[in-house]
Order: sequence, then structure tokens, then C-alpha cells
Amino acid sequence: MGNHPFRKIPDYLRSPEAKLKYNRELFNKIAGRYDLLNKILSLGADSVWKDSVIAMLPEVQSPSCLDVACGTGDVTFRLSGKYPKAKIYGVDLSANMLDIARSKNRSKDVSFVLADMCNLPFSDNSFDLVTGCYALRNAADIYQALTEVRRVLKFGGNVCFMDFSKPANRFSQRIEYLLLKLWGSFWGWMFHRDMRSYGYIAESLRLFPDSNELKKTLADKGFKNISSRKYCFGIIEAIMCEKANNGEPG
Ligand SMILES: C[S@@+](CC[C@H](N)C(=O)[O-])C[C@H]1O[C@@H](n2cnc3c(N)ncnc32)[C@H](O)[C@@H]1O
Repeated sequence: MGNHPFRKIPDYLRSPEAKLKYNRELFNKIAGRYDLLNKILSLGADSVWKDSVIAMLPEVQSPSCLDVACGTGDVTFRLSGKYPKAKIYGVDLSANMLDIARSKNRSKDVSFVLADMCNLPFSDNSFDLVTGCYALRNAADIYQALTEVRRVLKFGGNVCFMDFSKPANRFSQRIEYLLLKLWGSFWGWMFHRDMRSYGYIAESLRLFPDSNELKKTLADKGFKNISSRKYCFGIIEAIMCEKANNGEPG
């Protein structure tokens, strides 16, 4: 995995335990303003990217769906809109994000569960579709999160991850880091008087695989038919793939 070319990695990213604790505290703190800040930080484009993720998903009747790192339910409710007969679960680490999601929920078929995406409380092969928007970058251990997502997916089931995309080129990484750090820190300060809260987006990319490495990791982890679509000059990428059957009992 590519390390960042400059400056020390923050302590809260150095171990899965520290990152898990940091993320829980961070998202509990910013939950109340998350939806608004998301719109502002993306200049309104976030909902367009999410609509596009939903449009990429297959047209099936009533799939069982899981939205990991569902936050306030933005993608979970879009899944419910596309698949009105489906049973849908949203999983998140932050109780405060989930409280907001639950307060918006109008469907008996949509449920929200407090859990770590690296330790999902579902049986093997139980979902037809998994989504994760800004999910993998936040996982305390991306490899464990992928193992879990693959475990709960049915063979042939699809997963779509959307997140900031890290370019392979070091110079481009540096430019992306600086732009995200400045933009996130500014809005973090404006809304929370804390530059670190949204400066975290840039920091979390530092130990995240670049776009090519991520696709290779997905293939190594037992996913196939990997395709992707980029948005916003390549800063955002949606990656779609399918659970391969590596000779396991289905
Ligand atoms: C940037 S938000 C994305 C929320 C939502 N998917 C969206 O697109 O608006 C990231 C979410 O990941 C959650 N998260 C972070 N680490 C997690 C973990 N280990 N397991 C589950 N959720 C996690 C946070 O609580 C937060 O709600």
C-alpha cells in the first residue's frame, strides 16, 4: 500500500483500534451537521454521485441490501427508493449518525444497526447487494472490511463502493492532499471550530490504497468483474464488482 510522501502519519490512523475510536468520536461529534456539510463540501455534487451509484446497481426485483457506513442513511434511503420491496439494512459505527437516519426512516423494511463494518452481525451469503459510500476509507482495517463484505454477500452479488480516489502518481497525491486538507479544514473550522474534523478526509487518504491498488486488492480479496466510474476530475470514484466463487460451497 502506498505510504504518503510527506509528513508524519497522525497517531489516530496508526492502528485499527485508534482509528476505530477516532472515527466513532468524530462522527458522533459532527453527526448533527453532517448532511449540511456534505452538501457544502461537495458543492451539491454529493447527491448526484450517490444517484449515479444507485443507477449503476442492477435492476432486480427485491434484493436483500446492506449499506455499510450508512451514516445518516442517504444511500440507504436511495436503495429503498430503487428497490421498494427490498429488505434493507444500514450499518454504522456512530450512534448519533444512526439516530438521525432512524428519525428520517419511513419504511418498515429499512433497519439501522450499530456495528463495525469489520465485524458485521449478519450470516454468510445473506445479501444480494452491498453499498458503501465513503466507507472503505474509514474502515479501521480495509482488508478485514472487505473480508466481511465478501462474507455476507451471496455469490454473484454486487457491491458498489464510492469514495475519494487516490491517484497513483505521487505528485497528484500531494496536490489532492493539499486541496482536500485546505478545503476540509476551512469548513471544519467554520462549522465546528475544529480544523481536524474535516481535515480528516485528507489524512484518511494517506494510508488508503491508490485507485489501481484498490482494484487489485478487490481482486485479491475475491471480487470479480471490477469496473469503475470517476467523477469530479477523478477525485471521486465509484467501483462496482461482484463476489467471485473461489471454489467455496455456495
Ligand atoms: C463520511 S460518512 C459516510 C456516510 C454515508 N455513507 C454517506 O455517504 O453519507 C462515513 C461513515 O462511516 C462510519 N464509520 C466509520 N468507521 C466505521 C466502521 N468501522 N464501521 C461502520 N461504520 C463506520 C462513520 O460513523 C460515518 O457515518
